[in-house]
Amino acid sequence: MTSPAPATRTFRVGIAGCGAISRNHLESFKALDNVQLVGVCDVDADRARATAVAWDIPNALTSVDELLALDVDIISVCTPHPTHEEVVLKAAAAGVNVLCEKPIATRLESAERMVAACEEAGVQLGVLFQRRFWPASQKIREAIDDGTLGRAIMAQCSVMLHRAPDYYNRDAWRGTWDSDGGGVLMSQAVHQIDLLQWYLGDVAEVYGKVNTYLHGDYIEVEDSATAVITFTAGAMATLEASTAVSPNLGIQLRITGETGASASLTEFPEGSDGRLDLWAVGERIVVEPVHPEGVEPNVDLSAINGQLIPFHKLQVQDFVQSLESGTEPAITGKDALKSLRILLAVYESSRTGQPVRFAPVDPAHQAIPGLRDREKVAG
Ligand SMILES: NC(=O)c1ccc[n+]([C@@H]2O[C@H](COP(=O)([O-])OP(=O)(O)OC[C@H]3O[C@@H](n4cnc5c(N)ncnc54)[C@H](O)[C@@H]3O)[C@@H](O)[C@H]2O)c1
Repeated sequence: MTSPAPATRTFRVGIAGCGAISRNHLESFKALDNVQLVGVCDVDADRARATAVAWDIPNALTSVDELLALDVDIISVCTPHPTHEEVVLKAAAAGVNVLCEKPIATRLESAERMVAACEEAGVQLGVLFQRRFWPASQKIREAIDDGTLGRAIMAQCSVMLHRAPDYYNRDAWRGTWDSDGGGVLMSQAVHQIDLLQWYLGDVAEVYGKVNTYLHGDYIEVEDSATAVITFTAGAMATLEASTAVSPNLGIQLRITGETGASASLTEFPEGSDGRLDLWAVGERIVVEPVHPEGVEPNVDLSAINGQLIPFHKLQVQDFVQSLESGTEPAITGKDALKSLRILLAVYESSRTGQPVRFAPVDPAHQAIPGLRDREKVAG
């Protein structure tokens, strides 16, 4: 006699916001056997209807309240970031787990309220940073943990992107301090700031400048930024970010560990998977070609989002698995607070001309012994 297969739970899922990024969530949830997409909502009724029809979802609604009333277990928040707090607080009050798009919110207090509400309600809050799911990103994290890189001591992060005026003009919420909350740091470089803090740890100090070089006729937020970030574990990082670049020069994160080994992670064209294109492991240097012939640098937004789908899938899968196993998802609301705090500090530093201090550098790491010194100690 064969024993019956263990009953797996089916999760009822609703999607809030049927704009550009919702396709990534829809495809990701559709791919899972233990998920039932029960409804979508959008303040634009036509959009909600078209999405429900295209994805064969039974309920097309115009409010988050109606979506939550469908007795969902998970709500995916794909609405503009100024609305994330309202949606997440409603979900928490209804006892519904939340997977929220980045940035978690535009204000620190909003993000803190979201984290607190989900904690109090006993629901999970995951935040989308799908670039952490690139194999190359994971390999760098492993190399830090297994001692190949060891503790990261330096990083340089360059996020040099192209956005056409249409990107800012197509939606009223984009490009203002009040609604968008920021420019290239808030909407694009937040991904790489998340990677930086994941690799380098807690931040000690942020010094930065922001400016609006190209898009100033139609946005008030920054299109360009630069920052120097120091970390409590003694590491230093530089960050430069812009959407005023053409052609798109892509995204690169270079990182050096205390062993002296380095890695260079490149995303070009934007939206492609991050690749380790230069990777020193001991005496071996691995060089991987990342720029295939004839690649289109100024890729349009739907193509960028489309290429991110495999990594949205991995994070959505992780979120659902975390609910099944009763563990935390890989990237929580608390994690997302960190990148928000760092990028807001760049704005504050740019405004005041002063560095923003979070915490002292750990005295144990104020002076990192040189390689020769360490070799002497090691005998
Ligand atoms: N992870 C990524 O790489 C990635 C990429 C793109 C966008 N995003 C994030 O996803 C979010 C949405 O971005 P987008 O590009 O899809 O925006 P969008 O403007 O294309 O879509 C947002 C949709 O939400 C709807 N909406 C607005 N307020 C609503 C509300 N209160 N309730 C229900 N629906 C509402 C709008 O009508 C619109 O259809 C943003 O926070 C953005 O930062 C993440």
